[in-house]
Amino acid sequence: MRIGVLTGGGDCPGLNAVIRAVVRKGEGVYGHQIVGFRHGWRGVVEDEAVDLTVSGTRGLVHRGGTILGTSRTNPMKSDDGRARVHDTLERERIDALIVIGGEDTLGVASALVDDGVSIVGVPKTIDNDLSATDFTFGFQTAVQIATDAIDRLHTTAESHDRVMVVEVMGRHAGWIATYSGIAGGADIVLVPEQPFDIDEVCNRIEHRHRHGPNFSIVVVAEGAVPAEGTLAIQSGDVDEFGHVQLGGIGNVVAEEVGRRTGYETRVTILGHVLRGGTPTAYDRVLATRFGVAAIDAVTDGDFGTMVALRAQKIERVPLADALRDLKTVDPALTDVAEVFFA
Ligand code: F6P
Repeated sequence: MRIGVLTGGGDCPGLNAVIRAVVRKGEGVYGHQIVGFRHGWRGVVEDEAVDLTVSGTRGLVHRGGTILGTSRTNPMKSDDGRARVHDTLERERIDALIVIGGEDTLGVASALVDDGVSIVGVPKTIDNDLSATDFTFGFQTAVQIATDAIDRLHTTAESHDRVMVVEVMGRHAGWIATYSGIAGGADIVLVPEQPFDIDEVCNRIEHRHRHGPNFSIVVVAEGAVPAEGTLAIQSGDVDEFGHVQLGGIGNVVAEEVGRRTGYETRVTILGHVLRGGTPTAYDRVLATRFGVAAIDAVTDGDFGTMVALRAQKIERVPLADALRDLKTVDPALTDVAEVFFA
């Protein structure tokens, strides 16, 4: 078979490990030809194809980013995008595609499955917000980076008696905030799932400072929102998939906490640092398992599926199921985090 591979959406530690695994088993075991498309769906629209070989994809397991490049291009947005995707797949004689991406990239894949394109999806996002899989690779790495940062901010918080506000990515789900908040011993974690009341946040910090430690760590998910009518925030630009650009709520929280409590407050926005660098061992293994499972699914002709982690096993699930709901933080996990709140 001639199999196309692409990585779409935000880059994510572990993408190269998936590509390497697809090629290693695809060419090395099954004798397929593997073709990479550059820059996500843009590379399919514009027919930017490169040959991927076992020898050319060695040494990738630990490398962050994606050797194929990525973009947030949505081919369904332009009048001729969908037709150009079909033209490229025909011209390049592609029998099947492995699409590595999050909700947006896999959403395009799902629409193309409806057109009859043979696709297997691989779930990717540091946000961990895809339903149908217990974890996406990249998430654990992001949590580790955020936790390391919180550990470092803790020492300054203690030394200076400060409130340190840390903003983490995660879009409209609070997975990274909740996990890193628990791991880093945060005193307050604000997540999109529970709109926050700034008065209550300040009361809790004041209560903590009156009854013990004179510093606090507040982790804020970039998608956290104030409860209606409590605080005004500005909205960012919208991308080709209709997603608003997030980031900056940490500044608002820090400014309000400092102004209302009088405590010295600082903010650190971790942003893209959470997506950079080498994947953790866990993410390398998960990405490798996904890559091997994806090429197995293609070889079996099991199209319109996504490989997923479920109760430690890799399974194939209908692609459409994976996209149905945003996977938000399990309330049971929030309960655990709240035991340690100020
Ligand atoms: O989906 C991954 C993610 O890193 C989100 O956490 C974040 O909101 C978004 O991508 C940022 O996107 P960009 O790299 O386009 O600014």
